[in-house]
Amino acid sequence: MSLPSLRLVDTDPAELTVDAIVIGLHSQPDEAGTLLPAAGAESIAAAFDGRLTATLALLGATGAAGEVTKLATLGTIAAPLVVAVGLGDEPSGSAPAPETLRRGTGAAVRALAGSGTAALALPVPDDADGPGVLRAILEGALLGSYRFAGYKTKPSKTRRDPVAALQIHVADASDAAVAAELTRAEVVGRVVRLTRDWVNEPGNVLRPPQFADAVVAAVEGTGLEVEVLDLDALKAGGYGGIVAVGQGSEAPPRLVKLTYTPEGVDNPKKVALVGKGITFDTGGISIKPNAGMWEMKSDMAGAAAVGAAMLAVAALKPGVSVTGYLAMAENMLSGSAYRPGDVITMFNGKRVEVLNTDAEGRMVLGDAIARACADGAEYVFEASTLTGGQVIALGTRVAGLMGSDAATALVKAAGDAVGEPAWPMPMPDEVRKGMESEIADICQVNANLDRAGHMLQGGVFLREFVAEGVEWAHIDIAGPSFHTGEPTGYLTKGGTGVPVRTFLKLIDDLA
Ligand code: BES
Ligand code: MN
Ligand code: ZN
Repeated sequence: MSLPSLRLVDTDPAELTVDAIVIGLHSQPDEAGTLLPAAGAESIAAAFDGRLTATLALLGATGAAGEVTKLATLGTIAAPLVVAVGLGDEPSGSAPAPETLRRGTGAAVRALAGSGTAALALPVPDDADGPGVLRAILEGALLGSYRFAGYKTKPSKTRRDPVAALQIHVADASDAAVAAELTRAEVVGRVVRLTRDWVNEPGNVLRPPQFADAVVAAVEGTGLEVEVLDLDALKAGGYGGIVAVGQGSEAPPRLVKLTYTPEGVDNPKKVALVGKGITFDTGGISIKPNAGMWEMKSDMAGAAAVGAAMLAVAALKPGVSVTGYLAMAENMLSGSAYRPGDVITMFNGKRVEVLNTDAEGRMVLGDAIARACADGAEYVFEASTLTGGQVIALGTRVAGLMGSDAATALVKAAGDAVGEPAWPMPMPDEVRKGMESEIADICQVNANLDRAGHMLQGGVFLREFVAEGVEWAHIDIAGPSFHTGEPTGYLTKGGTGVPVRTFLKLIDDLA
């Protein structure tokens, strides 16, 4: 579904003729016990003659972060409806934390479903912090209004369409920095939504060849250089891991490489983004239990994020060279599938003893990371739905992070800044020792099939494919990339688009 249209306005929000106005509400009352509207809502509060927050409180509002309360305005202001979103405690004069606003805006905009037009009168400070705060609000709005088009043959009667048009109130709509945020948000919003679309597509629709075609179609005309390796090219090129995982499926694997080169930059830094693109993960011969297996349609979330981030890079034109590698395969079981016990020669020449065909992500990624290094990458940032162990250890909102010290520090800072947190994990020697193979260079998992430290085994394995001196980070997004619960904040059900915004922040920070 298409992006809502966005427009910046600096006229009085109380006079906007829209279907609804979103305001913020703080949870910390003033001395008289009255809840405080957030900055931006002044004229609306004035129109209610001091009774706005008392009326919202009557309706149950507390100002708790993310809480949404709707109030009919009955002629007090031009818009017929106020949607008050809780922003938590008033942070003593400063704007709420960006992620609080991003989530709050997302929740409010989801509650606007069914409205044609709405305005956001949220606390955008009229100072140097303004653009950053506005960015969070715009991202919350564009992601909260996402919906997967889906495959219903009849439109649902109970599900209302996302809001179609949004006006965002700022102090000065002609301010260049503020206008630039709108332009950027439209790019970022579009690509994060595209990531969600790809992740939400069923596995029968998006098999590796279709996924590769979709990515190629999406980047057409952007100026990115495109290389697609099909099965013959992968075999000829020595991509043993990708070929092994893909060989159990009728739908052959692909490695898609997208390259952006900045203009007029001497000797730009070389950044590689690598993503796991398993379009469906049955586990292969080491088959998964059926419960929840359908979610494995999202096992390409890393590659989707890389493809989408490259689209944004093409539009935002940073001063670093960025290359995306999307390693696509379908992990099936059949007479031609790879087996436990197989020894596979990877792109960098290392021989891997397969012990569990369900640890397929590291097989395709080992090749893709090695290729990125062979192409001369100085930084490799790789994202993958690699292990269930990540979800056990860190849950659904915090990604696992492993790699070189400098690269993991960059990812940690970038993730924190954009509301996509990742937490550093160790790579202990014992874990590597447990992966010694009798007959090959390394086992793909702990040889005793020990589940302890599953997430760590993934990172330790991938390290084998990083060339000397390359700064690298592995981001395990098994939990954060797919939201199975009810919608919350700017997350809708299904694909989340993590870690596209982390990738873009990393690139900004390196540029
Ligand atoms: N795609 C899965 C990991 C996963 C699990 C992603 C749950 C999202 C949600 C991955 O390929 C896998 O099967 N990992 C195994 C690794 C094991 C066989 C070493 C796992 O986590 O159990
Ligand atoms: Mn698997
Ligand atoms: Zn997988």
